[in-house]
Amino acid sequence: MAHPDRRMRTLMLAAMLGGSMGHAALAQITDPDRRAAATEAQMTDDERFAMIYSIMGAATIIGMTPDPRLPAGIPMSAAYVGGVPRLGVPAQLQTDASMGVTNPGYRPDDKGATAFPSAILLGSSFNPAIARRVGEAIAREARARGFNILLAGGANLTSEVRNGRNYEYYAEDPWLTGVMAAEAVNGVQSQGVISTLKHYAANNFEHNRHWQDVIADRTGLREAELLGFQIAIERSQPGAIMCGYNKLNGDYLCGHDWLLNQVLKKDWGYRGWVMSDWGATPSWEFALKGLDQESGLQNDVSLWGAEAFTDKLRAAYRDGDFPKARLSDMVRRMLRSMYAVGVDKWGPAPRVDMAAHNAIALEGAREGIVLLKNDAAVLPLATDRPLKIAVIGGFAQKGVGSGTGSGAVLPVGGFAGELNIGGAHGRLGVARSLFLTPPAPVDELKKLLPAAEIEYDGAYTPAESALLAQRSDVAIVFAVRVEGEAFDLTDLSLPWGQDAVIDAVVAANPNTIVVLQTGNPVSMPWRDKVKGIVQAWFPGQAGATAIAEVLTGTVNPSGRTPITWPADLADTPRPTMPILATKWGAPVTLRFDEGAEVGYRWYAMTGRTPMYPFGHGLSYTTFDYSGLQLRGGDNVTVQLTVRNSGARAGADVPQHYLTRAPDGQRMRLLAFEKVTLEPGESKAVTLTGDPRLLGRYDERAGRWRLAAGDYEVMVGK
Ligand code: BGC
Repeated sequence: MAHPDRRMRTLMLAAMLGGSMGHAALAQITDPDRRAAATEAQMTDDERFAMIYSIMGAATIIGMTPDPRLPAGIPMSAAYVGGVPRLGVPAQLQTDASMGVTNPGYRPDDKGATAFPSAILLGSSFNPAIARRVGEAIAREARARGFNILLAGGANLTSEVRNGRNYEYYAEDPWLTGVMAAEAVNGVQSQGVISTLKHYAANNFEHNRHWQDVIADRTGLREAELLGFQIAIERSQPGAIMCGYNKLNGDYLCGHDWLLNQVLKKDWGYRGWVMSDWGATPSWEFALKGLDQESGLQNDVSLWGAEAFTDKLRAAYRDGDFPKARLSDMVRRMLRSMYAVGVDKWGPAPRVDMAAHNAIALEGAREGIVLLKNDAAVLPLATDRPLKIAVIGGFAQKGVGSGTGSGAVLPVGGFAGELNIGGAHGRLGVARSLFLTPPAPVDELKKLLPAAEIEYDGAYTPAESALLAQRSDVAIVFAVRVEGEAFDLTDLSLPWGQDAVIDAVVAANPNTIVVLQTGNPVSMPWRDKVKGIVQAWFPGQAGATAIAEVLTGTVNPSGRTPITWPADLADTPRPTMPILATKWGAPVTLRFDEGAEVGYRWYAMTGRTPMYPFGHGLSYTTFDYSGLQLRGGDNVTVQLTVRNSGARAGADVPQHYLTRAPDGQRMRLLAFEKVTLEPGESKAVTLTGDPRLLGRYDERAGRWRLAAGDYEVMVGK
């Protein structure tokens, strides 16, 4: 028998080396890196290999049979990864969460979640605090269902205006995107739930996404698309990064050594893990290129004929082609995020107050709806006399439109209607539907205007709609477009003859207002004829209420468009998009030759005038700016006083831009702030830019450079 002292010393030594510590002892290690290393060191290879792939749960929705490796009775949605209970490693339960917790047809016990506004609407709010509150609420609902990883945090730039998924992203600008996405992630992770940031990176178009090769130069990426991710990562430390489907300059995003190993992990020092998108791992060798986890195995089987990180990776390991150190690194990264965010420390599920979450959804919608046009102060609607109001089209008697694909949220009580559109692009045709989220805008308007006479017309034909418009004081046309994952827009027009309806309505009644529910800008052949245009994006379950409030002036609109509205697609970097004509499965190339000059930067560089510029949005009050002061040096700070010079309370968003650098004209949003002011009230605002937005990235030297000389800046609304 060993001497007790010696036994004690041996035990202590084992603990120090992490050799045989139990769950409880490991949990005492507070530093997430050290705890991850000590835990991983005690795992068997079987346990390690079991953590680096996930099994898709919601496979049935796309016609697959559930995988037998899934344990019965667990809350399932996007994916599952087993845990290691003996070491205190929780299982990973992953769900989509772009606009709320999704339930893609898999859990009959789940009666729906809060349908929050889409990311592009939150981007329009220019208010990071609201993104945070939405993130917190989504995480509480996820946690109550047992999900500990949210596939949230869409942080690609909306650099291609036809991209079907722009509704899941915040903006075309890296600063706005980075700040908003960071707060969304911070909100989620503050609740002990891991959030991804996705789809890293240069995944800005959907068509043939599995076979799409994006050609873009590295400097441009560093100064735009990648900068958005970088800012979001720095400010929120997301537990995981999801790499996207397509290729960049010839290599798949999930097997991209430069993007993953060099930029993300080395240059930015990212310490969490990289999970693939579902079906984005055609090869086990992606594990050598920086991918840490293969997601949704079944999708890889259906697309590429095999799983990558199971048998194939194990064979490579046995043959010595895949090093043990890398396997450990993959696992440690996951563990590190789990401990840093605290998914292992969950107590009882938080109480979810659905009424409070609806209030957050409403607050978001109120702040993000954009008043694009308001001629002759047609809005807000007069409340001093009983108006005859024609509400026309857009299924406004039922609900508001929603983005589609993996982000679509089933609200509590179900959709008010669903019309499947289908389509040939892969499996997601089944998910491409016009989803109508209640309540109905017509009902919400009636609540706020009890004395008005409100009639609805279904916009079945232009002539029929014109009849109602003609006998009304004001006509409000609701227009909707289905946008979402796997499908892009061929052009920016409205479908189903809605343009013709608007034309007929405005011909019958000049007091016409159009309310748009889309995830992207819209071409508007009728723009000059109508008096008012409201962009409601996909506003979620409180959207109809917020729309009615904006129309009646109960709420003063304060959204600013986070994406430039082209007057003509010919003005954009890609006047035509020939790849849209290719069949599903065809390898396609997509050039992003604009480099860093994305969105409004492109318009500034080429001197073109958009229909509505980035940052545009009207209010029912007016704001004056005064006392502008500048401080230069290594950075640039502006100070100014914003005053509400009108008669209503409202919020303004002063925006600070770089317009010229020593090497020439260069437009960059440097900083912004949303300020809410009572009539006559003033506030001093200080806006300091991030120096990277003043500089250029020197790819060869691997760093940012700020040229000496004069910089010209501007402050605008
Ligand atoms: C989407 C991801 C999503 C994943 C899991 C993919 O098709 O691109 O955004 O998180 O599915 O549902």
